[in-house]
Amino acid sequence: MANSDVADDIDHGSGLHRALTVRDLTFFGIAAIIGAGSFSSMGSACAAGGPAVILLFIICGIACGFTAMCYAEFASRIPVAGSAYTYAYTSFGEIIAWIIGWALLMEYSIGNIYVAFAWSDYFENLLGVIGIHMPGWLTTNYRSAHAEMGDIWNNAPTLGSLHIIFDLPALLINFLITWLVFVGVKESRNVSNAMVIVKLAIIFLVICVGAFYVNPDNWTPINDAGVRSFMPEGFTGVMSGVAAVFFAYIGFDAVSTMAEEAKNPQRDLPRGMMYSLIICTIIYIILSLVLTGMAYYKDLKVGDPLAAVFQMNGVGWMEAIISIAAVAAMTSVILVFQMGQPRIWMSMSRDGLLPKKFQEIHPKYKTPGFSTIVTGLVVGIPILFTDETFVLDFTSIATLFAFVLVCGGVLLIPRREKEKGRFHMPYVDGRYIYPIVIFAAILFLNLIPATRGYFKDLFQIDFTADTATYKISSLIFWSLCVVLSVFAYKRRWSLIPLLGLTTCCYLLTGMTAKNWVWFFIWFGLGLIVYFAYSRKHSKLNVA
Ligand code: ALA
Repeated sequence: MANSDVADDIDHGSGLHRALTVRDLTFFGIAAIIGAGSFSSMGSACAAGGPAVILLFIICGIACGFTAMCYAEFASRIPVAGSAYTYAYTSFGEIIAWIIGWALLMEYSIGNIYVAFAWSDYFENLLGVIGIHMPGWLTTNYRSAHAEMGDIWNNAPTLGSLHIIFDLPALLINFLITWLVFVGVKESRNVSNAMVIVKLAIIFLVICVGAFYVNPDNWTPINDAGVRSFMPEGFTGVMSGVAAVFFAYIGFDAVSTMAEEAKNPQRDLPRGMMYSLIICTIIYIILSLVLTGMAYYKDLKVGDPLAAVFQMNGVGWMEAIISIAAVAAMTSVILVFQMGQPRIWMSMSRDGLLPKKFQEIHPKYKTPGFSTIVTGLVVGIPILFTDETFVLDFTSIATLFAFVLVCGGVLLIPRREKEKGRFHMPYVDGRYIYPIVIFAAILFLNLIPATRGYFKDLFQIDFTADTATYKISSLIFWSLCVVLSVFAYKRRWSLIPLLGLTTCCYLLTGMTAKNWVWFFIWFGLGLIVYFAYSRKHSKLNVA
């Protein structure tokens, strides 16, 4: 990068390089959204819920749509790099902001561990296509090999009693992307844009070719009980895929971490987020229709479902093409997340919650150099001792939690006058609409026998005495809705953030007890760090 280039658009407030237009931001959004979720975890969600998983894609799309509006509102008011962390700082204060920052660490860094593992699987596929085969001990994570105790474990070299097993491609991609993010935003943007074009082109091809192999009978498959249904495992089966499907949507929010590198953040960040989310939602709905139409739903329980359905239909030549798309797609996800994480730390450091080193901008590359390297280590080291499933669930629950707080935050900040050239979330008075919607939902979905019978599975709750086995989480959810209705009525709360909050909370009801336990352990750890370091060094404290 020529130095004059840099000098042209440096933001002298932050020292970062303002290079991104609305097109770049939309591409960044798509780069962050379409990745391991669609190429890998979508398979297990389809296997658990059958074709009705499409409903989950729609629900998640709606939840993310409302949340994106809330992010956009904040981004147009506070165009600095910290994303949800900064928004929470403004609306809830320091401790909640810290908790969000801590949760975002899971979204970006821990999420990237999952993507790096999935990247490695597809990269290995690709090498296989050109006849290169790496030994299993160099392409498997230690935890999985240890759990299986199979050939990989037995054939791995040893150092004393230690079996040397690690996922080399996952480590390498993490190293390469860390380097790329370190050397500059323009370089990262160019690579990311190229990857997005490749993945969109190949997904388009997958949809077009796949459409010829759809067998409509697969959309109403027969389950183990011999019943033919669009929802063969009930809505409970559909909801069990929530972590996997929601993971596929994570990423649009990463656009908001680019606030200090966007040319016109107040106008372009909201647009970038919304455009990328709309494009990806449409792609996901079509892709899940094609996928579940091409194979029996239970056969989709594989790590590479898109490649597998083509193999099942005798279209082997698509495998290499899909592997190329998957590698490109996941590279771009890792890239955007690896850019997002340091920028959040940079904001936290400015507020005194992290050491000053985290806000240091590299004098030559104009990127947050130290934070970028730490991100590389936070992603790279756990690659040596975690596995995919653990990090996937962990990431989704933490991100949903962050979304809930962002939607809640918009409800608490004062309304403002419209300003030309800035995004402005439309205000719809929720005073009557929200309580009516909630009241109707409780009545029709839960209480009236005829409709309850139809919907009880859909909302996992049934108040009749003989089947009072509803989940505690659903009960908490409906109670929260009633409380929100009261506030909506009293304070004339805006409908869009209310619906964002409600849909994200609903998705949280699909998380398992095990996810919650891990989440709260993580949460507790965050509070220990906050009270041991951040609170003492906080700018608020110093002031
Ligand atoms: N949405 C991103 C992916 O699917 C995290 O890889």
